[in-house]
Amino acid sequence: MQFSYADRLERLPDQFFAALVEKAKKVQNEKGDVINLGQGNPDQPTPDHIVEALQTGAEKPKYHKYSPFRGLPKLKEAAASYYEREYGVSLDPEREVAVLFGAKTGLVEISQCLLNPGDTALVPDPGYPDYWSGIALSGAKMEKMPLTAENNFLPVYDAIPESALEAAKLLFINYPNNPTGAAATESFFKETVDVATKQEICVVHDFAYGAIGFDGYKPPSFLQTPGAKEVGVEAMTLSKTYNMAGWRVAFMAGNESVIEAINLVQDHMYCSLFGAVQEAAAEALTGPQDSVRELAALYERRRDVLMEAVCAIGWDAEAPAGSFFAWLPVAEGFTSEGFADYVLEHAQVVVAPGRGFGESGEGYVRVALLEDESRLAEAVERIGALGLFGKK
Ligand SMILES: Cc1ncc(COP(=O)(O)O)c(C=O)c1O
Repeated sequence: MQFSYADRLERLPDQFFAALVEKAKKVQNEKGDVINLGQGNPDQPTPDHIVEALQTGAEKPKYHKYSPFRGLPKLKEAAASYYEREYGVSLDPEREVAVLFGAKTGLVEISQCLLNPGDTALVPDPGYPDYWSGIALSGAKMEKMPLTAENNFLPVYDAIPESALEAAKLLFINYPNNPTGAAATESFFKETVDVATKQEICVVHDFAYGAIGFDGYKPPSFLQTPGAKEVGVEAMTLSKTYNMAGWRVAFMAGNESVIEAINLVQDHMYCSLFGAVQEAAAEALTGPQDSVRELAALYERRRDVLMEAVCAIGWDAEAPAGSFFAWLPVAEGFTSEGFADYVLEHAQVVVAPGRGFGESGEGYVRVALLEDESRLAEAVERIGALGLFGKK
């Protein structure tokens, strides 16, 4: 029997990238040696001391029982000390930190917590598609904020229709940005706090790539902005900073009432994460941080190799300031999807079409720095050999 789905499932956006994954598989089977720069799955292993903390924790019978519903105090205290150490931001571990099963979960949950059907949420375009999923599940509407090169890929609040600003209850932002690799300025965060205060909007800053800044740049936390905790929260995942994407651990920090709402919805949906995972996450946040610096340096070297290769074939593009993505304009005469299909078919290189991140992503592709330097250079050389950018 095929059961009909609830309306809320029918509202979920299409998985734009599913088709690309299928096409890549087909080309891999037919021609072999596909270089996949289309996805965002970190390629390096979790640092040893974190894995060892998991191993030790796994042997503790106390963690074989249910964990406390709202997470281990040890992890929430570690999150607070991480923010104090890295950003000089004080957090109350019990009231201002919620443990998440990965940031994705929290970013979807927050719309369930704060939006009623018909409400409005402001989202970046291009942007991380899971914001849309949460909004769709809650039956709310989206107002897209175009991110363009002219505005350094920052939303322009003055350009948002006054009616949408007045109606908005949630505002999603994300810096360093996926997919554009752009950075936020402190003045942009200040302006965000001002707009949110005036319009009574809850800001959700997705800080997934907070540890990955290039050329000496340390991405600021939104919570460093005066007044930020009054109007918002920040989602910080361990997936990218510590190569723990498979572990599913993150936290949300900031406004007490929002943290309470996240905890409340989670009380009804889950019991918290495996205690040993939480203990290892606490070790990640408070233990040695050399691996984080080394990781950012590794991505910076890869970025440099990529951008040098891109420049050598006459592909005119800006280097990212952070994250592990480069946002490259497509060759003339192509749509982003057409370009991605063409380079997959003819160069066996997977890139993510910008259109999949929203209408304003059209004209670009996203390239991930998640292969080693020689593979990145080879990918660009293969694209160069197609003669789309002037030089071969
Ligand atoms: C911008 C952004 N936010 C959130 C996430 C999800 O992180 P997590 O692994 O913690 O669910 C990703 C993962 O790709 C991301 O790119």
